[in-house]
Amino acid sequence: MKNEFYEMLCQEAEALIQGEPNMVANLANAAALLGERMQKINWAGFYLMDHGQLVLGPFWGKPACLRIAPGRGVCGTAVQKNENLRVENVHDFPGHIACDAASASEIVLPLRRQGRVIGVLDLDSPIAARFTPEDEQGLDAFARVIEEACCNGVFGYDLQ
Ligand code: SME
Repeated sequence: MKNEFYEMLCQEAEALIQGEPNMVANLANAAALLGERMQKINWAGFYLMDHGQLVLGPFWGKPACLRIAPGRGVCGTAVQKNENLRVENVHDFPGHIACDAASASEIVLPLRRQGRVIGVLDLDSPIAARFTPEDEQGLDAFARVIEEACCNGVFGYDLQ
């Protein structure tokens, strides 16, 4: 990865996660790190698959909706398609779920273990088209680091 900002961000995430097997602790710090370092965002966090639905996980920002079915909203659509979604204007996205009226653009990246989607990393911005292809590449690398934090230890994610 060429982008120095995201290289640093991934290194910081790795350092925070290293040696800690608890998934909630790791995702909480990862969300806080994104909130601290990313410019022009109003929400960053995780939804995790639980009995076939996305359920709110650790995050930074305003309280958000608790459950999202696959196929619903940007997050559920990213899960159903099993691909990253970069939405330049959320108001143009059919079925977008507005947790914060201030959100204008959004990026959602699936998290996977053993080839299965176990959740998503979701970031919102009050600025339209905030997330560029370069951001997607950097956040994709960040998501790969985070996946390592999701299947370790007693409280690691249970593949269903
Ligand atoms: N906007 C998302 C819902 C989650 S919030 O952005 C935190 C969606 O449409 O899936």
